[in-house]
Amino acid sequence: MRVVTTLPELRRVRRGLPEPVGFVPTMGYLHQGHLSLVRMARRECASVVVSIFVNPTQFGPNEDYTQYPRDLPRDLALLEKEGVDLVWTPTPEVMYPQGFQTWVTVEKLTQVLEGAHRPGHFRGVTTVVTKLFNAVQPQRAYFGQKDAQQARVIQQMTRDLNLPIAIIVGPTVREPDGLALSSRNTYLNPQERRAATVLYRALSAARRAFEQGERDAETLRRIMLEVLAQESLARVQYVSCADPETLEELHGPVEKALLSMAVFIGKTRLIDNMLVGMGRETFPPYIPEEQWTVDSEQ
Ligand code: PAJ
Repeated sequence: MRVVTTLPELRRVRRGLPEPVGFVPTMGYLHQGHLSLVRMARRECASVVVSIFVNPTQFGPNEDYTQYPRDLPRDLALLEKEGVDLVWTPTPEVMYPQGFQTWVTVEKLTQVLEGAHRPGHFRGVTTVVTKLFNAVQPQRAYFGQKDAQQARVIQQMTRDLNLPIAIIVGPTVREPDGLALSSRNTYLNPQERRAATVLYRALSAARRAFEQGERDAETLRRIMLEVLAQESLARVQYVSCADPETLEELHGPVEKALLSMAVFIGKTRLIDNMLVGMGRETFPPYIPEEQWTVDSEQ
C-alpha cells in the first residue's frame, strides 16, 4: 500500500494503477461504515484508492473542525488490511493553496435538509470532492447512504458536470442497537450513547407504519417526532419525509420517501435516514452514459 501526500506523487502512483480504479473519499477516523465502502470498491475494481482529508471548508465557523477526531496510524493499518492500493492524505495547503477562490455549487438539492441548517457545508463538500475526483480520476466512487443528501448531491454534480465516474451508494452500517456508525459518536458520553438509539427507533417506527399501509407524509413525520419526544436528551433540529430524488418535502400520500432527521444528543449533532417504498436500502447508482455498456457486461 502506497501512502502519498503531494499531488505530483499522487499523480505518478495513480498512472501505474490498473483500471477500473475505485475511490473512497473519507475524513479518516475510520470505522466499519467506511470499511464497508472500501470492501465494495475492492470487490468491484482492479485498484482501490482512499483519501483521508478533514476538509475545513465543509465545517461551519461554530462546528467541530478542530475537535474532529484524527488517528492516521490506526486508519492506515485498517486500510492496509483491506488491501487498499493507494492512500492519499493531502494537507490543507495542497487542497487550498494561498489565493484559492474557485467553488463548485449544486443549487436546489443543497438548499434543503442538511443544507438548510449548515450553510456553506455542501459547497465545501462538492468543491473538495471535485478536486479529489480530478486528482484521482477514478472510474467508480463510493459514498454511504448514511449521508443520503451528500450522496444525491454528488450524483447530481457528477451528472451535471459530465464527470466520467459512476457514483455507487453503500448501505448504512449500524451498531447492534441500531445507532448508525459515525466518527462523531466518539463525542457521546455513556448516557448520551444510550439516548442516541432514539434516531434509529424513530425511523424504524415510521418505516413500520409505512409498511403497514400508512402513506400520509405528515403522519410519518409525526410518528418520528413522537418517538424522539420520549428521549429527554434529544433536541430535534428537523425531521423530514422527502422525495428521494428532489429531496423536497412531501405532503399528502407518498409512494416512496427518504425519511431523515438531525437530532442533538447533548452537544453532539447526529443524522440518520431510511428509504421507504423503494424496494432497496440505498439510492440507485449513478452510471455515466459512457459506462452503460461496461456496466451491463458485469
Ligand atoms: P466521512 O464522514 O469520513 O465519510 C466518508 C464516507 O463514509 C461517506 O461517503 C459517508 O457517507 C460514509 N459513511 C459514514 N458513516 C457510514 C455508515 N455508518 N455506513 C455507511 N457509510 C458511512 O462524508 C465525508 O467523510 C466527507 O463529506 C467527504 C465525502 C470525504 C468530503 O470531505
